[in-house]
Amino acid sequence: MKSIILIGFMGSGKTTVGKILSEFSGMPFVDTDELIEEKYKMSVSEIFEKFGEDEFRKREEETFKELVEKDEGYIIATGGGLPIFLKDKSLLNKGFTVYLETDIKTIFSRLENDTTRPLLSKGNKAKKIAELLEVRGPIYKNLAHTVMNGKIAPENIAKTILLAFNNLEI
Ligand code: S3P
Repeated sequence: MKSIILIGFMGSGKTTVGKILSEFSGMPFVDTDELIEEKYKMSVSEIFEKFGEDEFRKREEETFKELVEKDEGYIIATGGGLPIFLKDKSLLNKGFTVYLETDIKTIFSRLENDTTRPLLSKGNKAKKIAELLEVRGPIYKNLAHTVMNGKIAPENIAKTILLAFNNLEI
């Protein structure tokens, strides 16, 4: 069975939508950042600090590959940089990949007080979000099998994704 893979910027709602999708579908929910933290017994910020971003990306791809190759049908919330840095982009075709599209304003309001994202921890947060989103937005769109408006109610996003997914599975 295929997994549903949620991709999108930090704060786009991947975890929130993913948990609802898991509830609606009965498929287990997995968050790649949480898996990495469990596997290496360290927070994402600590991995960035101690080993650098390149090492985090290596661990992230390895963890994601192991997960999708199990072919067990998970709801997967990916880290915002995963699809961008993934060397083997075809891994995203092991599931139904959905981009949760959001805008700078929404992301900023959700992450304004967040201190857990190393990429947004230094400098002007709004500027950093704008710069990253400009580069990443088209890549997410290009890699996804479908794009969802991440600003609507998460329950409605989950329902729409499941309908599309079930149609594919038939
Ligand atoms: C990152 C997003 C984070 C986490 C890390 C890097 C990124 O995950 O993987 O801080 O490069 O966008 P979330 O998208 O769950 O915040």
